[in-house]
Amino acid sequence: MMNAVTPFSTPIRLLSVAAEMFPFVKTGGLGDVVGSLPHALAPYGVEVTTLLPGYPAVMAALSARTQVMRQPALLGHEATLWSAHVAGLDLLVLDVPALFNRAGNPYLGPEGQDWPDNGLRFAVLARMAADIAQGRTPHPRPDLVQAHDWQAGLTAAYLHYDQQAAERGGQPVAARVPVIQTIHNLAFQGRFPARCVAEFGLPPEAFSVEGCECYGAISFLKAGLYHADRITTVSPSYAQEIQTPEGGMGLDGLLRHRSDQLEGILNGISTETWNPASDPAVHFPYMVGDTVGRAPNKRDLQAEFGLWADPDAFVVGVVSRLTAQKGIDLLADVTPRLLAGNTQLIVVGEGDREIERRLAALQRQFPGRFACHLGYSESLGHRLPSAVDALLIPSRFEPCGLTQLGALRYGAVPVAARVGGLADTIVNANPAAIAQGAATGFLFTPVDGETLLATVARARQLYRRNRRMWRQLQLTGAAYDVSWNDKAAHYVRLFAEMLGMDAGGRADSNVISLPSGRHGLREGRRRRIARRPPRLSRALAAPH
Ligand code: ADP
Ligand code: GLC
Repeated sequence: MMNAVTPFSTPIRLLSVAAEMFPFVKTGGLGDVVGSLPHALAPYGVEVTTLLPGYPAVMAALSARTQVMRQPALLGHEATLWSAHVAGLDLLVLDVPALFNRAGNPYLGPEGQDWPDNGLRFAVLARMAADIAQGRTPHPRPDLVQAHDWQAGLTAAYLHYDQQAAERGGQPVAARVPVIQTIHNLAFQGRFPARCVAEFGLPPEAFSVEGCECYGAISFLKAGLYHADRITTVSPSYAQEIQTPEGGMGLDGLLRHRSDQLEGILNGISTETWNPASDPAVHFPYMVGDTVGRAPNKRDLQAEFGLWADPDAFVVGVVSRLTAQKGIDLLADVTPRLLAGNTQLIVVGEGDREIERRLAALQRQFPGRFACHLGYSESLGHRLPSAVDALLIPSRFEPCGLTQLGALRYGAVPVAARVGGLADTIVNANPAAIAQGAATGFLFTPVDGETLLATVARARQLYRRNRRMWRQLQLTGAAYDVSWNDKAAHYVRLFAEMLGMDAGGRADSNVISLPSGRHGLREGRRRRIARRPPRLSRALAAPH
């Protein structure tokens, strides 16, 4: 598809800072986005280097690596920074064995509890990001930093306080590299006790409402939202929702205060990876939009999960973290009734132990009709949407959501809560949208068990009574652009704007022209940096 955004003629360097990245380490959509966005930005002349913690899985992936520097005491711990090029991705890996050389999940210990030193673990990551951004390491200084979620939230704060310290010390003050704080999920804010300020290497004044303090604690995400030059989140609707008391998780005041610097840019997925004709997880390959070619996959999946081999069963799938955010507790409440009308349900997920227990009990109660895989399986995450009739996503909130994108592309009709990115990427099958051939799925609100049930029934009814129309939903969904194309262009417009390279274009305009040469870029950066962080004692005064 032709894109109207001109690539940067001299590459710009983006440092992306994140706690996970597919294919090295992933617990959810954050990893997918951090792993696929660099490929999507490359054609625009954006060179992305990603700074990751050196977990065992990441260290093991570095077949060839170069030592960038050693730091004997990075916030008190011996650290080595490695650079590597793996799977087409440029990495900087922060190897701090005392903090990252642990088995299992990046955030959780063996009992499923947060690692008690998570504050320090991710403070170290942001501290290194700020050092790189200031040219304090041999790695070339980036032009821009994108800090993902709370784990990278202190990056902008360190840059701010370092600059203040330099100013006070009468040292020459370099222009500050602009930072984008990206929110993938506002529910996780990285809150740590006030006494950790010194341990994190922050000055005492950082513990203030105009800094890193948030309701009596240090909040990494709040620090990022306060100090970053721009804030993005992963869908336009979520960008609105988080500015309301209902969706703002206590930070809506700050987000409203910064609404001029906040925007929603939808996620995409890799259409190379998500291709049912070549996806190794899809047992019977078919072309995108081939609704008939999916049939053997449905039969095969029913067999794999021990469900009744009935081609007429309405098979609904779920691939999800099993948490309250995802509304899986609501689903468990209504599952016995949902299985009416020859419906089968398959859940693939892991998470909340109580929800897992309930799903396991349902599987015993409804053999042949309900089955679950309690665990993480990348392969099932792809196979399910190639086989089920509908993919159910009953999230209470959803910043963007990626599973509906895979479902649309693979011909599984999404049945989803009308929230966040789900509302932005699915066109509800109301009579008008169906008549216009625009509908791609079913959206419901309010997000409760009864409405979920009624909406699955509505979908099932269309599937049973009007298969031609059902196919039309699948076809329209398959034609919807789930790729990164337009979304990467949107990021590029934002970068250009931040670097002062915007020749009159705005993030919502179609065409911008970008001047060539690094000189213009650095000038632009200097202009931008002059801005001071906002004062917002008033905006934060009222908690909710
Ligand atoms: P979130 O990041 O909130 O968990 P997303 O929909 O953005 O939700 O992304 C979740 C990603 O993780 C998707 O790629 C989905 O397929 C995958 N996923 C979630 N749970 C599992 C699981 N148990 N097995 C395999 N893939 C999973
Ligand atoms: C978060 C959100 C999800 C989003 C993902 C990637 O985990 O919960 O909605 O798709 O990040 O941005």
